[in-house]
Amino acid sequence: MMAKTVTLIDNQTGEKYDFPILEGTQGPDLIDIRTLYGKTGYFTFDPGYGATGACESKITYIDGDKGILQHRGYSIENLCDKSNFLEVAYLLLHGELPKQTEYAQFHAEIMESRLINEQLQFFFRGFRRDAHPMAILVGVVGALSSFYHGAFDLHSEENRLLCCRRLVAKLPTIVAMSYKYSIGQAMLYPREDYNYTDNFLYMMFGKPEHKFKMIPEVVSALDKIFILHADHEQNASTSTVRMAGSTGANPYAAVSSGISALWGPAHGGANEEVLNMLKSMGSVDDIPQYIKRAKDKDDPFRLMGFGHRVYKNFDPRANVLRQSCHEVLDALGMKEQPLLKLAMELERIALEDEYFIERKLFPNVDFYSGIILEAIGFPSYMFTPLFALARTAGWTAQWKEMHEDKTSRLCRPRQLYLGETAREYIPMEKR
Ligand code: CMC
Repeated sequence: MMAKTVTLIDNQTGEKYDFPILEGTQGPDLIDIRTLYGKTGYFTFDPGYGATGACESKITYIDGDKGILQHRGYSIENLCDKSNFLEVAYLLLHGELPKQTEYAQFHAEIMESRLINEQLQFFFRGFRRDAHPMAILVGVVGALSSFYHGAFDLHSEENRLLCCRRLVAKLPTIVAMSYKYSIGQAMLYPREDYNYTDNFLYMMFGKPEHKFKMIPEVVSALDKIFILHADHEQNASTSTVRMAGSTGANPYAAVSSGISALWGPAHGGANEEVLNMLKSMGSVDDIPQYIKRAKDKDDPFRLMGFGHRVYKNFDPRANVLRQSCHEVLDALGMKEQPLLKLAMELERIALEDEYFIERKLFPNVDFYSGIILEAIGFPSYMFTPLFALARTAGWTAQWKEMHEDKTSRLCRPRQLYLGETAREYIPMEKR
């Protein structure tokens, strides 16, 4: 069978150029334009990379029109229903679900790596108490490179895996410590009798002098939130990790740059903004006024937690969390919580509004995760750090895959230059 190609005809010169078409296992085909500049002298222009495939990947598949999200072929609904975050982290990193012995070993290695070097704790004290925990995370995770730099060998598979496991294991400890630091409470060490997610809850909300009460529904809802945020293909923060990593930079530095990218309100920072928005609304009566503002082109306000670059019918993560949201509020006896009522009414009104229907804007994952996290007791400034904790599984898997992929190169986009053309320097006295 003839290989599929696409022909580009240059209308200026009449010249024809063929480019191969690359077929994935699912999803749209891609035009391979790696030889475009060499053959034609043209670059492509795609700000925001809406139509650009930047890498090969076998980790996560998204069909935005159908609302499909799969990790290594397993649907997100299936994983949320049957798996747990640590197993999903293993799946992302290794490509297959672990056998019992493999899981036991991975689990033991992660549990063993949860502590951070005592000296790293001094870093926290250098931050203001009111520093945003994302700022602390950027600094402390980046600083991990100073503790492990000597032991970093990009060319050893075992060493790459070790870096990934370390990051997945230590993020909950660092996130919880940044919280404890912000409220002036004693930082807690991981406990042997707790697993990944319950231990994180303990480190966040436990106190040395009290017995900690674990609520199974809360552990399960948080674990689901972690699974739902574990990876999401080539989004802004993951692409940032890949871009930084493509230079051969240390993985801790690469993940720290991903945390910076995640922080923005158009990406991971949206979950915090959803809560801030709901709280500023105050009552159901204020919703129309906010909807009006969201539609006003002269007003920069956007309805936070609505819309998505890729999902254009529904966000499958939001569907899972919508249900989980009700279960947690039930378990915590918070069903009548005014914020949830407000959120549900906002969802209803927006979904019936022509503006939102036309633009395919519907609640995304952040809309519901914010409500669940608030009910569990996380302050809104901790929402994005939690997203970072979970996404570390995806970032590390993508970083590892990039270094094992023969087609990977240093990421170096080009530009459409619209500035001045060459001109002579004019001495200051003559300007
Ligand atoms: N409220 C009001 N209008 C909106 C919104 C919104 N939340 N989102 C998009 N629009 C409008 C936008 O003004 C534009 O209108 P028009 O065509 O008349 O100019 C149209 O919808 C398309 O918007 P866009 O900015 O071109 O779409 P995008 O794909 O670049 O933006 C987005 C995606 C997520 C940045 C955007 O929907 C947004 O800002 N949403 C609010 C922030 C948010 O919830 N972010 C979390 C995303 S989910 C977490 C994650 O995966 O990272």
